[in-house]
This record gives sequence, C-alpha cells and structure tokens, in this order.
Amino acid sequence: MKPEIAIIGAGYVGIPLAYTFAEAGRPVVLVDVNGERVEELNRGVSAIKDVPSERLAPLVERGLVRATSEYGAIRDVEAILVALPTPLSPQREPDLSIIRAAAAELAEVLQRDQLVVLESTTYPGTTREVLLPILETSGLTVGESFFLAYSPERVDPGREDFTTKTTPKVVGGVTDACTSRAVDLYERAGIDVHPVSSPEASELTKLLENIFRSVNIALVNELAQLCDRMGIDVWEVVEAAATKPFGFMSFRPGPGLGGHCIPIDPFYLTWKAREFDFYTEFIELAGKVNENMPYFCRSLISQALNHGKERSLKGSKVLVLGVAYKADIDDVRESPALKLIELLRNAGSDVAYHDPHVAELPEHGLASVALEPHAYDCVAIVTAHSSIDYEDLVERAELVVDLRNATGRNGARNGKVWKL
Ligand SMILES: NC(=O)c1ccc[n+]([C@@H]2O[C@H](COP(=O)([O-])OP(=O)(O)OC[C@H]3O[C@@H](n4cnc5c(N)ncnc54)[C@H](O)[C@@H]3O)[C@@H](O)[C@H]2O)c1
Repeated sequence: MKPEIAIIGAGYVGIPLAYTFAEAGRPVVLVDVNGERVEELNRGVSAIKDVPSERLAPLVERGLVRATSEYGAIRDVEAILVALPTPLSPQREPDLSIIRAAAAELAEVLQRDQLVVLESTTYPGTTREVLLPILETSGLTVGESFFLAYSPERVDPGREDFTTKTTPKVVGGVTDACTSRAVDLYERAGIDVHPVSSPEASELTKLLENIFRSVNIALVNELAQLCDRMGIDVWEVVEAAATKPFGFMSFRPGPGLGGHCIPIDPFYLTWKAREFDFYTEFIELAGKVNENMPYFCRSLISQALNHGKERSLKGSKVLVLGVAYKADIDDVRESPALKLIELLRNAGSDVAYHDPHVAELPEHGLASVALEPHAYDCVAIVTAHSSIDYEDLVERAELVVDLRNATGRNGARNGKVWKL
C-alpha cells in the first residue's frame, strides 16, 4: 500500500501517531535512523507499551504501517510529521541538532504540495526561524508550493483515558493555507483540532501546559518539605484540598521530576525569553525546587535509618523500589530514581533496585533484583508501580521510606514507614 503520511521519528510520539493514522485507514511510513527499531516495526513488534504489538502487527500485515531508514520513502506522501527528540545541551540550552539534521535530509526530497508538521516540543519561533529556512533550500515556497505548521504532541505515556486520537490537536500554520492543510490532515484521522493564529502560539501552548505542571509540582514539593518540619502529613492535606469541587487542581509531591518533557521543556522558553531581555522566574524557581527533591529524599532516608535502625547511609543496604519516572511505565529518562541512586551511592550506601518494568540500568551497572524486602536495611519506594503489594512489602521490610504515599494512611511514621 502506498504510504500517504510519513512520520519521522518512531518513538514514544511517532509510533502512537502512526497507529492513529493507520487505524483511520491512512497508510503510514515511519522513518527512523535506528535500524533495529525499523526492523522490529516491520515485523509488527512495538517497543512502545501504549501501542502493544498485538495492535500494531495487524496494521503492518495489512500494509498500513511500515518503517524505513530512507528519507527517500517520503517523496510520494501527502504529509510529513516530525516527531524527533528535542533535548537540552549539557549547559541546559535547547539542542535542535537532530531537528536541523532531519530538516536538511527532508529538504533534499521535499515535493510540491507536501505538508510538513513539526510535533516535537520546542520554543516559540522554531518552526519559522529554524525549520522554514532549511526547508526552503528545496527551492519551494511556503504557503504556495509546500505547507508548514506546528502542532504539539500532547500524549501522556501510560495513560488510557486520553490517547493521541482522543486528545485535541492545537495547530498553527506559517500561513492560513498551511493551517487549513494541517487541520484537514488531523480531522480526517478523527482527531478534534483547535487552530491558532501562528506556529508561535502553538509552540507556546505546549510549553505553557508543561510549565503549568512543573510549577504546580514544585509548589507541592515545597509544601512537602515544610510539612516535614511541621510534622503535618502533606498527602492528607493535598487529598483534603482536592475535595473542593472548583478552583483547585491536585498535584502530588514526589522525589523529583522525570520523563522527556516536564524537566526539560520549560527551559526551552527560559532560553528564548532571554533574547527578549526577559527572565522566566517561575520556571527557574520551579526547576530549583524540583531538582532539590532527590537531595531532600536522600536526607529523609538518612533520617529514617538514623532513627529507625541507628544506622548511617554509609554501609547500609538500600533497595530502591521503582526506577521508571512514573508508575506502570518502563521509561527511565530523567527519572529522579537515577539521581537518588547516585546520591545514595555517593553517601556510601550499597544500592540495589527492583522494578517489574525495567530489567536493567546499564549505565549504573545494575539489574533489577528479586523483591526481598527483608534483605535490606531500608526499602525506598521511589515509583509506585501498581503491581506491587505494598501492605505485604511493609510487613516484610525492616524499614520503608515511602516517597509516593504508596502505603497510604496506614504508612504513618510509626518507626517502620517514613513518608515524604
Ligand atoms: N515522550 C513523551 O511523552 C512526549 C509527549 C509529548 C511530546 N513529546 C515530544 O515529542 C518529541 C519526540 O519525543 P519522543 O519521546 O517520541 O522521542 P523518542 O526518543 O522516543 O523517539 C525519537 C525517535 O527519533 C529517532 N531519530 C533520532 N534522530 C533521527 C533522525 N535524524 N531521523 C530519523 N529518526 C531519528 C530515534 O531513533 C527515536 O526512535 C520530543 O520533542 C518530545 O519532547 C514527547
């Protein structure tokens, strides 16, 4: 089947997108530099849990989804969606090198009338200032002989109530014609679309959504630290506040931010704002509070060991329970558990981890061990996967530090369970 849509980047965003279009009957080709990923996709195997192989394979068999490493495969498609990583450099500045490299390859094969939509999260101005000039080296003119828009992907991996298909798309084109082409593309796949006046408005919308989360998580994380001093259960307070049916939205404290989005994306705006002599103070402050959480959690574990077992971090055996950045997923990118492991090791603890979703952490030289809580001085619940029986865990462990309220109300500081 001839592909109608190309998706560049077959990752957490690209694969669910491909699935959504293919399910709507639109043949898709995924373009990815990772040869292994391409090969497994063509066998109907999905590396992304949100699109299990059982659902992908029939679409591959019917020719509705295929993958390749060749950019030439996009010559005949109607639309090209770019879902590539947008990381930060070691100096915490936007690193668009992957987007730039892909755009240069794209410009070589871009055809008349094709629509290009950038879906990667980025700062306002990327589509017009970075992508457009590279694509115009093709000799084509935007809004006339090719079309360019920005539409952020808003998928939340692991979530079942809202998926790529059921989450509305915000779309902003470089010209009005670009916007209507992009609106039409998504609507034909059965997705609700909210058009905005420019790619910049669309780019900033995505950042606002992520900054909103980062700032509110920082607020409860700060409160959690105050509650620790005041001897108040922060979880009880958040739960109680959430009974207000209006004007309050519940965010939960935790060991820090994780994932490819919330810890990174806000700093794309911080960087761009400086060009306008502007300092995004909420973003910086939230980053500071959230980045301190693994340190705070290490001190909590230290306190628990002191009081609970008359032991120090140095020489204690600590089991980190859950290393994925959130419950019931296998993604460890930017996971606060990784930072906590490093901090505990720096303090001289002997650290092991158990995670039913993450078999190994090669960069830390660790593999998931069997869950034998009694074999450790302390078990730290860092990610609360739902498959774990926490009551049984508390029963079998000598000391538990619960950073996620997984042990619930019974997990009060009774000497055995210490909660954030
Ligand atoms: N993961 C999420 O939850 C999420 C949600 C919304 C938005 N986003 C944004 O979407 C974008 C993509 O994120 P992701 O999580 O899907 O990334 P990912 O790392 O899961 O996938 C990216 C894929 O791109 C491939 N790739 C790298 N360079 C390439 C190139 N030059 N040509 C072709 N393929 C190349 C990689 O091999 C990888 O398979 C990012 O900007 C991210 O911020 C992510």
